[in-house]
Amino acid sequence: MHIGPLLGSGRTADVFALDDAWVLRRYRHDTDATTELAVMSYLSASGFTVPRIGPPAGEALPTDLVMQRLSGPTMSEALLAGALTGAEGAELLARLLRELHAIPPRISQDPEDRILHLDLHPENVMLTPHGAVVIDWHTAAEGPPALDRAMSSLILAQVALAPGSFPGELVRGLLADLLSRLDADGGVPADALALARTRRAADPGLTAQETAVLDDAAALVTELAG
Ligand SMILES: Nc1ncnc2c1ncn2[C@@H]1O[C@H](COP(=O)(O)OP(=O)(O)O)[C@@H](O)[C@H]1O
Ligand SMILES: [Mg+2]
Repeated sequence: MHIGPLLGSGRTADVFALDDAWVLRRYRHDTDATTELAVMSYLSASGFTVPRIGPPAGEALPTDLVMQRLSGPTMSEALLAGALTGAEGAELLARLLRELHAIPPRISQDPEDRILHLDLHPENVMLTPHGAVVIDWHTAAEGPPALDRAMSSLILAQVALAPGSFPGELVRGLLADLLSRLDADGGVPADALALARTRRAADPGLTAQETAVLDDAAALVTELAG
């Protein structure tokens, strides 16, 4: 296997080109990618837009995943560049959550459960010439879809309050718009938001600034959800 140039890095993984068709996603920590592979394959087969799973690479590690090479910016990059408005971003996130939650669970016997991404925010959506594709499924689980809506909303609220490179106002507007769109799908109930807050608080990947704004972020979601 020849590993080509680094295409992107997030908090947990590095993504390298293998060739024009495939990339290698490699965890920097000792995380097994096997479950993610099963979830992505199931979602692909269900018609949801995820990268296609590729042939296993030679000398592959358990932390490796070979998948379709995508082109185009992430939704974050498009928002920052002004190529996508906050309203368009909100509409897209709401649609992706709705479409994901229309798919029956893969494992759970509870018919109300759905596959949850649990980290569906603008850095994990790539805008390809063929449409939006959701990446980064390492947090995926099955459970009540309201938890996924709460996680996306809470993550955006944290970005709005601890913006880094993002204009806080843009993200706040996007969040307000997203919450009004999510209403039709069941919105973000208080118990789901509380559970999302607990999960975020337990995430060792959070920066000190993100942890510091977590309670205010939950309050902001409640306020904007009206
Ligand atoms: N299939 C892909 N094709 C091309 N680039 C990708 C692909 N998947 C991820 N990337 C790039 O790698 C970055 C990190 O990937 P991601 O799966 O979100 O890892 P992390 O868990 O570390 O956030 C993305 O923001 C994107 O720039
Ligand atoms: Mg990511």
